[in-house]
Amino acid sequence: MRIFLAGATGVIGRRLVPLLRMAGHHVVGMTRSAAKADALRAADVEPVVVDVFDAPALSRAVSDARPDVVIHQLTDLPPGLDPSRTAEAAPRNARIRSEGTENLVRAALASGARRLLAQSIAWIYAAGPRPYTEADPLDIHAQGARAITVSGVAALERLTLSSPPLEGVVLRYGHLYGPGTGADRADAPSLHVDAAAAAALLASEKAHTGIYNIAEPSGYLSIEKAQRELGFDPSFRLRAHP
Ligand SMILES: NC(=O)c1ccc[n+]([C@@H]2O[C@H](COP(=O)([O-])OP(=O)(O)OC[C@H]3O[C@@H](n4cnc5c(N)ncnc54)[C@H](OP(=O)(O)O)[C@@H]3O)[C@@H](O)[C@H]2O)c1
Repeated sequence: MRIFLAGATGVIGRRLVPLLRMAGHHVVGMTRSAAKADALRAADVEPVVVDVFDAPALSRAVSDARPDVVIHQLTDLPPGLDPSRTAEAAPRNARIRSEGTENLVRAALASGARRLLAQSIAWIYAAGPRPYTEADPLDIHAQGARAITVSGVAALERLTLSSPPLEGVVLRYGHLYGPGTGADRADAPSLHVDAAAAAALLASEKAHTGIYNIAEPSGYLSIEKAQRELGFDPSFRLRAHP
């Protein structure tokens, strides 16, 4: 398949690129930086330098890529989730989830892509009986900083899932750890970055429209749907750890 990967240089994107290439897919990878474009080229990715907030340029870039699948792994978060910077990052991250996703959906629709996959999070369910499944409601009555995050995520998921004829797939990831994340473990729902990348590969190839919880098994979250429908394996690791 031809894949347009938005967020090719992020923590998940960097682990996903080799998986997509090993599976034989052609990858067009997006970055805002010419220097990172060189690194993408070295990883056998066709780079495109564009900002997701420049809608006309984004639309041209996605159409030129002629993708079967568009993968949205964009975030705007501080390296290592530095706690002193997470509060000021929340509105920026919410903007990339709402306005950025809207631009990407429009560009994907105009390009004729068949499927759109988007990165979401698995820890904003409304309080209720555990483990949470994909059918449980999000915490839309949250207050304060959590409300900013929930509204961005809700916008991202709505745009992804209701933009026919695109087949929209939402991956609700756990808290990442592993290479590039700045963490060697995480609180539940936890997820190794390699397993996050592997889930995106599996979903590109075989997901149905809908939502999938992607994390390690815990009492917090059910991952049964992803295991059954995608063959998701939370213990997956890339052999080489650059
Ligand atoms: N579920 C989770 O727990 C989770 C999920 C994601 C990230 N994180 C954490 O957050 C921290 C930062 O993540 P990260 O290193 O992936 O960095 P990041 O700064 O959040 O960037 C992620 C990707 O989004 C792209 N991007 C951001 N804004 C863009 C824009 N306006 N236009 C186009 N592309 C844009 C970046 O591309 P360029 O910079 O190349 O333009 C990069 O490829 C890490 O510690 C990571 O572990 C956690």
